Amino acid sequence: MDSESVRRDFPTVRKGSGIYLDSACQSLRPDSVIRAMDDYYESYPACGGRSVHSMASKVSVAVDEAREAFASFFGTDDPGCYAFMPNCTYALNTAAFGMGLKKGDVVVTTDCEHNSNHVPWLRLQEGVGIRRRMSRSRPDGSFDIESFKSFMDRSVKAVSVQHSSNVTGCVVPVRAVAEIAHDYGATVIVDGAQSAPHMPVDLKKADVDVYCMSVHKMLGPSGVGVMYGKREALERIKPLCLGGGTVGLATYDSVNLAPLPDRFEAGLQNYAGIVGAKAALDYLSKVGMREVEVWDSMLLERMMKGLEDIPNLHVVGPEDPGRRLGVFSFNIDGLNAHDIAMMADSMAGIMIRSGMHCAHPFYVSRGIDGSARASTYLYNDAKEVDVFVDTIRHIAEVFGDPASRP
Ligand SMILES: Cc1ncc(COP(=O)(O)O)c(C=O)c1O
Repeated sequence: MDSESVRRDFPTVRKGSGIYLDSACQSLRPDSVIRAMDDYYESYPACGGRSVHSMASKVSVAVDEAREAFASFFGTDDPGCYAFMPNCTYALNTAAFGMGLKKGDVVVTTDCEHNSNHVPWLRLQEGVGIRRRMSRSRPDGSFDIESFKSFMDRSVKAVSVQHSSNVTGCVVPVRAVAEIAHDYGATVIVDGAQSAPHMPVDLKKADVDVYCMSVHKMLGPSGVGVMYGKREALERIKPLCLGGGTVGLATYDSVNLAPLPDRFEAGLQNYAGIVGAKAALDYLSKVGMREVEVWDSMLLERMMKGLEDIPNLHVVGPEDPGRRLGVFSFNIDGLNAHDIAMMADSMAGIMIRSGMHCAHPFYVSRGIDGSARASTYLYNDAKEVDVFVDTIRHIAEVFGDPASRP
């Protein structure tokens, strides 16, 4: 990957706006994404799928092209299986609440889920009476397929797992999970918020039923998510929100739903976001997802190697960078994670995340208050990582307590 050329494409990098290591939350955007959105607002700021005038037709075509780009990016054939949504959380909620689960139905998740793939199931347990089972991860947070298997039987109606953790970076082998789950007749839902931006994902090969993603973590505009599903799975999911755009015909007393994917896209859509999403996929395709993955792992390895000898710094998740995708979570004895983040910003303009990263059960169950988290992407480079390493080393040595754990 030509890092210099990639970095030139990002306005905040060009302007020297600091070292951005918070891409697991939201990524930076290249010029082409911003231009595509500007072009929408400047040239054809109409709605899609409704009016038939020329400006609106241009929007409808642009939305169709965006869906085609998603289908091809994720190795599938049917653009109609991609529904635009405000974010990955909305997509996961749509899948969970739309499945029509009944009292006693069992859903299997893991004990490492983001709240967006945890709280909807908890709510269904409280409201509908579904039963939840959680596959136990290993002490370092990695997925344990034997534990997962032990929770599977014919009563399981859905399996919902993250593809990659925003805390530990551990990747769940979703294809193997899908194979096992399908043997029991369960529907497989995957939270792809952290995997889609950082590794090649072939949804046909993965054979999952539903895959939810967060486009603002993959160079796309804020507030864009996508729910992919196999056609037969989407046909079974009831939309979370109904109204304009979602129906074929409504009378005073009845309604039939619009075909896929329109039934999931209620009301006027974020058209600027959708055309920006296509530009983001075009950009990632041009660089190549394999290259992005290799670049991320080079940066993470450099980061973790650079900090491995600091006795009062503790890694959350696997110590081997090769087993993490794009995120490095850590604590320093004697320092609160927010203090680490604020010091890194004020001392060296380094932007990292701190807290529980919306993975509260993971931290609470381990008795940890939270952690600092640095996350990389294709626009970071080795020099930035070195500044991060020097700064964190300084913070640990000067402000941290001496090591309290071996
Ligand atoms: C693993 C994981 N799942 C789900 C989400 C929610 O994504 P969104 O903000 O698009 O709703 C995130 C966001 O950080 C995440 O990291």
